[in-house]
Amino acid sequence: MRKTTKILTALTASVVILGSIVYLAGQERGKIMSSKTTTISPKGTVKLPSPHKESSISIEEALRKRRSQRVYRQASLSLEEVGQLLWAAQGITHGSGFRTAPSAGALYPLETYLVAGEVTNLSSGVYLYLPHKHELIPVFSGDIRKRLCNASLNQQPVCAAPAAIVFSAVFARSTGKYGRRGIRYAHMEAGTAAQNVSLQAVSLKIGTVVIGAFEDEQVRDVLSLPVSKVPLLIMPVGKELVAEPTTFTLSEF
Ligand SMILES: Cc1cc2nc3c(=O)[nH]c(=O)nc-3n(C[C@H](O)[C@H](O)[C@H](O)COP(=O)(O)O)c2cc1C
Repeated sequence: MRKTTKILTALTASVVILGSIVYLAGQERGKIMSSKTTTISPKGTVKLPSPHKESSISIEEALRKRRSQRVYRQASLSLEEVGQLLWAAQGITHGSGFRTAPSAGALYPLETYLVAGEVTNLSSGVYLYLPHKHELIPVFSGDIRKRLCNASLNQQPVCAAPAAIVFSAVFARSTGKYGRRGIRYAHMEAGTAAQNVSLQAVSLKIGTVVIGAFEDEQVRDVLSLPVSKVPLLIMPVGKELVAEPTTFTLSEF
């Protein structure tokens, strides 16, 4: 009898510990559950290939060639390519944790997500980029591009691109020090990070466009963002389509 009680106690303790681990992992990932998405159990992070720190294209050439591109070649992106774009967005470039993009007070309110549809060696899903480790944390699995596209007023680049980078912000990180002005700073920071992605994309012959027209709550829902995170910008990314001009008209957005 005493032996049975001991076994039961041990079992209960194991369940509680396991439950706590799962709960804490969920917390770590920032409330990732959603009724409309398939949550995957933590499978471990995805190590991204080390980013290149040099290229043969000058900053002037990248600036000159940067153009919003809304049509992409039908091809997958590699893990190396998405990793390089994410590094350009928010990668660590200094031993003290400073990043590729400036941040007011070095408070880093941005949280960067990768929406993967067709990325070689990466399951379709939503991933959170961890700048310090240059890794991706899987948030949930499934191809959400169509839903993200709907949430972005049906803008076709979001439907068609093999992947998208989404910048969200935790305003509290900046407002704690700067008050309401911290919100403005977070938006500015998303702009600088987006420009980094745009210029890096030129050097990789990848097309992208900054998408700011979307339904905030719908995007939050599609990405299962916790209330602390506000979506700021979406950047679909896909192999450059050189031949075809885009059909976009300037007055549209
Ligand atoms: C904050 C911001 C939001 C934007 N939102 C959209 C958008 O929702 N859809 C889109 O197609 N382009 C969007 N754009 C891209 C602009 O339309 C584009 O930058 C502009 O037409 C100039 O063209 P260029 O980027 O090729 O120089 C946005 C750009 C910025 C900076």
